[in-house]
Amino acid sequence: MALVSMNELLAKAQKEHYAVGAFNCNNMEIVQAIVAAAEAENAPVIIQASQGAIKYAGIEYITTLTKIAAEKASVPIALHLDHGTSFAQVMQCVRNGFSSVMIDGSKHSLEDNIALTNKVIEAVRPLGVSVEAELGKIGGTEDDITVSEREALFTDPAEAERFVQATQVDALAIAIGTAHGQYKGVPKLDFERLTQIRERVSTPIVLHGSSGVPDEALREAISRGVCKVNIDTNIREAFVKAARLVLEENLKEIDPRKMLGPAREAATAIIREKIRVFGSNGKA
Ligand code: G3H
Ligand code: 13P
Ligand code: ZN
Repeated sequence: MALVSMNELLAKAQKEHYAVGAFNCNNMEIVQAIVAAAEAENAPVIIQASQGAIKYAGIEYITTLTKIAAEKASVPIALHLDHGTSFAQVMQCVRNGFSSVMIDGSKHSLEDNIALTNKVIEAVRPLGVSVEAELGKIGGTEDDITVSEREALFTDPAEAERFVQATQVDALAIAIGTAHGQYKGVPKLDFERLTQIRERVSTPIVLHGSSGVPDEALREAISRGVCKVNIDTNIREAFVKAARLVLEENLKEIDPRKMLGPAREAATAIIREKIRVFGSNGKA
């Protein structure tokens, strides 16, 4: 199958009350793990590339690997730019074959975020490419801020309504208490805020920083309207743990495949688990 945009995947997820997993890739083994997991669970899936992934692997390698994976796969796959930083970067990804992009204007004022998002939508929607935007600031677990400082960065429901009216964006990432990376404690999500946002906007909602969020909280967020869930850190943890085990058990190992093969299997296993939590298994 050719790569698809996120729109058809998210529309079905929203209607049937599950979420599509959006998994970050950084190399061939992780692309293969995401596709193997999606096929084993018969689930639609989003493969996404972060700024770090683009720097590490390059846009062309990511696009080529993912296109081949999608062509061979029996499930629908979207290739999505994660936290796109500029109009130029978005266009470069689209020219290379990405079927979906995120333009992260969350560091700008509301009006500037709207203007940047609209500029992207105007350019890529005619090409059938879907667009995700971010409102509120999600940030990282390593950010040195207090709980109340983080809460001040949460998405404001009234602003979300204004943003969606002004952009008609395809998917909206919101800040309700999650953060990127490994949590120190257990993250506490502001479900009430999520519901308030859902009541004001019908756009598919995206949860970032979802690694380390308890399964029950993920299910609750999905029941309240989240239909795309982003996972990166859990894949890194599983991948590196398995690779490390191989090396620790055989200090003389020199074959990268002996290390990367089990790492790929471990990544597949965690992605399959997440797909089941999101309820997207059997939905391809
Ligand atoms: O956006 C969140 C990613 O998990 C961070 O990725 O370190 O690959 O840029 P990166
Ligand atoms: P985690 O690494 O915390 O799972 O976050 C992933 C993410 O939000 C990518 O955009
Ligand atoms: Zn993110």
